[in-house]
Formats: sequence, C-alpha cells, structure tokens
Amino acid sequence: MRVAVLSDVHGNALALDAVLADIATQGVDATLCLGDHVSGPMDPAGVAERLMTLDGPIISGNHDRWVVEPRAQGQGKVDQFAASRLSRQQHQWLAALPATAVFNDDIFLCHGTPASDEQHWIDDFYADRTMTLPSEESIVMAAAGVDYPIMLCGHTHLARSVRLRDGRRIINPGAVGFQLVHGSPDARYAVIELRQGKWSTALRVVEYDHDAAAAQAVANGFDGWAEVLTSGWAPSAPF
Ligand SMILES: [Fe+2]
Repeated sequence: MRVAVLSDVHGNALALDAVLADIATQGVDATLCLGDHVSGPMDPAGVAERLMTLDGPIISGNHDRWVVEPRAQGQGKVDQFAASRLSRQQHQWLAALPATAVFNDDIFLCHGTPASDEQHWIDDFYADRTMTLPSEESIVMAAAGVDYPIMLCGHTHLARSVRLRDGRRIINPGAVGFQLVHGSPDARYAVIELRQGKWSTALRVVEYDHDAAAAQAVANGFDGWAEVLTSGWAPSAPF
C-alpha cells in the first residue's frame, strides 16, 4: 500500500496543483488530506473544487471549522475571506468533514492531535521564529488509545516524523500551501508505503510558482501572506 498525505493547503491552488502533479508520478493507491484546506487569500474555491474529487479520506482542521461556523471563536479575516468565496455546495462539503478518520485499518488521521484540532503534537508552534520540541511523555500521552501503526497529523506546518518506542509512527507531512518554518517557499507533502511488513516515509518538497501565489494574496488584500509565501518564513510579529 502506498498513499500520499496532504495537509494545510490553506487556499493555495497553485501549490496544490504542483503537488497533485507530483503525486501523479508516485503511483499511490489513495490521497489523504488532513485539514485547513481553504483558509487562505489565494484561491479557496479552486482548492475546494480540486479536493472534492480526491479518492482518500479528508478530515477537517481548525480553520475549516472557523470558515463554516459564523462568528466562531478564533475566526480571522482570512477565514471570513475564504467563506465568502466558497459556493453553497463547497460550504456543505467543508461543514460535513469529520474531525478524524481511519484509512485501510492502518492509518489514523487527525489535524492537531487525536483529541483536538488546535493542539500541537510532535512539535511546538513557533514564536519569534523559535520552535521547541515537546517532551517524549507529552507526545506519547496524546497517542494513548490510538492503536494504529501510522498516525497522521498536520496543523503546525512542520514536516516531521516520530517513531514511538512501541513502534507506532506519527507523521506530519508539512503544509502544501503555506510555509511558516522551513525557510523555503516550496510545497510539502508525504508519501507513505507499506511493503513486506515495513513502513517507509518520504517527506517530499515540490517547487511551484510561489510568486504567482503571492500575487494572488496581494490582489485580495493580504500583503502579509504574500511575504510569507515568498520567503517560506513566518514574520516574527503577528500579521
Ligand atoms: Fe491548523
């Protein structure tokens, strides 16, 4: 079994197209997607249109909740922008996505942790470009009762793979559409394979026209996003 794993597309259809083209060369059996699909100032409706055709399970992220829940706590300007661009059918699709899913009895999908789409699991979020790693204990605690060899998460936009002492793996494919910590504008996703009883993970890096994505963000009034899309670094001050 060989699957592609996407997360955090954040309304970036240009990055998504580049990743889908790369996936087409990878011979995967399914494509899985971990949430925060449309919340970005580039092309939210274009992203929804593409993701609605994927064959694998798709779950919801915190920003997807914030897009579909009017006046949700945590909802920001960019979530409101995305909501304004989606068709009624796309809204309904987004609102109906589950918080977690299981694929093929082997792979568990969540956005943040199994219990929360806002908590960070295998890395701590950045502040002033400083990232720290959580304790082994806190990572193991969040995995309690999740009895699958592969556990997928997104949310922090950092591509990273952890293997627990009991053999279970937690994999974050990174973000397709919005790089905050890699210091590179390229799109990220993962290809995971089970062959002869052994799992392998490839964290892939895909070049795309990030300047065109930045131009879309500027055209829609989100200059701060354009700077991040261009550099691959979140600014040290909130934007
Ligand atoms: Fe998120």
